[in-house]
This record gives sequence, C-alpha cells and structure tokens, in this order.
Amino acid sequence: MQKRFLNALAYKNHSSPPIWLMRQAGRYLPEFRALRQKYSFLELCHQPELAVEVTQQPLKRFGFDAAILFSDILVVAEALGAGLHFKEGVGPVIVSSIRQASDIEGLRHTSAAETLGYVGEAIRCLKSCLEVPLIGFCGAPFTVAGYLVEGGHSDALKRTKQWLFCEPAGFHRLLERVTAMTLDYLKLQIAAGVDAIQIFDSWAMHLPPAQFREFSMPYIDRLIREVKSLGIPVIFFCRGAAAFLTTLRTLAPTGLSLDWGCDLAAVVPHLPHGMAIQGNLDPDLLYAPLKVVESEISRLLGPIKGHPGYIFNLGHGIKPDTPLDAVYTLVETVRKAPW
Ligand code: CP3
Repeated sequence: MQKRFLNALAYKNHSSPPIWLMRQAGRYLPEFRALRQKYSFLELCHQPELAVEVTQQPLKRFGFDAAILFSDILVVAEALGAGLHFKEGVGPVIVSSIRQASDIEGLRHTSAAETLGYVGEAIRCLKSCLEVPLIGFCGAPFTVAGYLVEGGHSDALKRTKQWLFCEPAGFHRLLERVTAMTLDYLKLQIAAGVDAIQIFDSWAMHLPPAQFREFSMPYIDRLIREVKSLGIPVIFFCRGAAAFLTTLRTLAPTGLSLDWGCDLAAVVPHLPHGMAIQGNLDPDLLYAPLKVVESEISRLLGPIKGHPGYIFNLGHGIKPDTPLDAVYTLVETVRKAPW
C-alpha cells in the first residue's frame, strides 16, 4: 500500500504533500452521474458492490493518495430509525425528526452490526483491492443531532439552538444516543479495516464558543480517544474552526482539517507539535481560470512548504458542478509544487 497519506498523519512525510478531496466521489464526476441515472444515492450507499465502485472512481481518474469510503454521515440517523431519504435538488430529509426529549424514546436501540453491516462489507471488499489507504468517517454527534432536529438542511439551526438553550439536559441525552451509535459504527469500520477516520463537524460554526465547548467538544473528544486507543489515526474537520482555535487545542486528533475560512499559515504555528494539518483551498476557486487555480495553490503551499504533517485538501467538499479540468490542474500543481 502506498503510504504517503499515513506518513503525513504520522508527521513523517518528506515528499510533496499527499492529496485527497472531501466529496471526491460525487456528482462532478460523469461516471458518478451515470451510475446515479440507474440508482438512488442511498442505493449506492447500501449496496456494497456499488459503494466500492463509486469509492474507486476518483482514484482511477486522479490517482489520489487516499480513498474515502462512499457513504454519508446520515446513515447513523437512518440506523437509529429516524428514516432518511435524499430529495432531488434538496438534499437529505429526516422522516421523523426529533423535536423534544420525549421523541428520543422513539429512536431504535440497535447495534451497528445489525443496521450498518453493509458498510463493513464495502470496507472489507475495498481493502482487498485498494492501493492507497482507506478513510472511514462519521459526523460529529452535534452535526448529526442537528440534522435529526431540523429534519434536513437548515440555514441557522434555529430549532436545535432553541432546544439546547432552553432544555440542555434533554439535548445532551440526544447527543449521548447519537454518540453511542457513532462509536459503535466507528468500531465496525475499524474492525473491517479502515486505515484512518475523519470526523465531520459541518455545523459547528453555528455554535458560539461556549456552546461548542459544551455541546460538541466532549462528544468529539470521546470519539477521538476511542479511535486512537484502537491504534487508528483520526482527523477532525471543524467548519468554523477559526472561531474555536484556542479551544481546539485541548482536543488531540491526529490531524486537524481546516475549512477555507482559516488562514492556514497563521494557524500552523499554534498547533501542538506533531499534529498533522489538512486543508484548505476554497472549493469555489476551482471555477477560476486554470492559471488562477495554479497561482492560488502556490500561495497556499508556500508558507507550509516542507511540513512533514501536511495533507492537501479543499476547505470543504468539492462542488457538483466543478469543472474536471480544474481538478486535473489542482492535482498536477500540488504534485509539482517545490517541497
Ligand atoms: O467524501 C466522499 O467522497 C465520501 C462520501 C461522502 C458523502 N457525504 C457523499 C454524498 C461524505 C464523506 C459525506 C459527508 C457528509 N454528508 C457531510 C459532511 C461533510 C460536509 O459536506 O460538510 C454532510 C453534512 C452530509 C450530509 C449530506 N449528504 C448533504 C447535506 C447532502 C446533500 C448535499 C448535496 O451535495 O447534494 C448529501 C448528499 C451526498 N452525500 C451526495 C454525495 C455524493 C450527493 C448525493 C447525490 O448524488 O444526489
């Protein structure tokens, strides 16, 4: 197995930075759109042979240094019995949203082995054929709980924030349920063979720092400790990280993935020694002329040149209408960057 990505996580990469992209398997790829003509998004997730094929699509085209399992953070909500579907042009929809503490009783008591076994199957199959490390993932309990409460996309998480401010104990109970299921799910992924885990706190930026410390961090901390105790490196992606940097220092992920709002060069000197860093090109940059794509990548990479724990990525998921040319240019520019 080619190990540049794992070497960077271990702070031991001495060649040009490894590269993978959040949402690297997705609608910007014509081969993904072709499969989506035949299958729904959830069918692609649920059927291991399809999930395996989609996971490999971006690797075949771009030769990324890591694969990320094709799935979604919301399969945990589905496993809990909340009901999930993806509405064309809208995104995820939770069928039975959780609006108050008494709704938590309606969630299913189950194990990951019982409800998410198809993910383990996809992972085992991928491990038998991949030539690069495989990243497993989950949503941060706060983000998944936010989806359960809002019932789908939300601009400001109004209901979730009303709940946590008005009745914190009840909201913590929901977070506990989601965390327990998530832990079980991560253990299943690790037992099946993933080489690293990434935790996505995509909705952290809706919380003020004190509430981030109370309602998100302790649960993430638990996930991080558990994954590391199993000998697997863990990356934490925190959207809105700039607002939480001093607080984030108290977490100990193997690597921190920054969103595009952070100044990478300014953040690095303040990270604990040995913590890997991933990110953080603005995905919208990929709409720019290719010359601009090249120069902005050089601008990002200049100050971090030679860093043994740096992993190139975008600062959020790649957009569905990203031109393929820009992705080719991106990969080539990162690979050729002086290091
Ligand atoms: O990164 C990868 O290639 C692996 C697969 C992956 C998906 N979702 C596939 C997907 C991963 C790691 C995710 C994580 C995820 N899912 C997050 C965290 C990362 C982030 O973006 O902040 C979140 C918040 C979700 C929830 C989710 N799933 C949303 C909001 C949407 C709709 C948005 C959209 O792009 O349409 C999805 C659907 C989804 N997840 C798609 C893919 C490829 C598009 C589905 C389709 O084909 O219609």
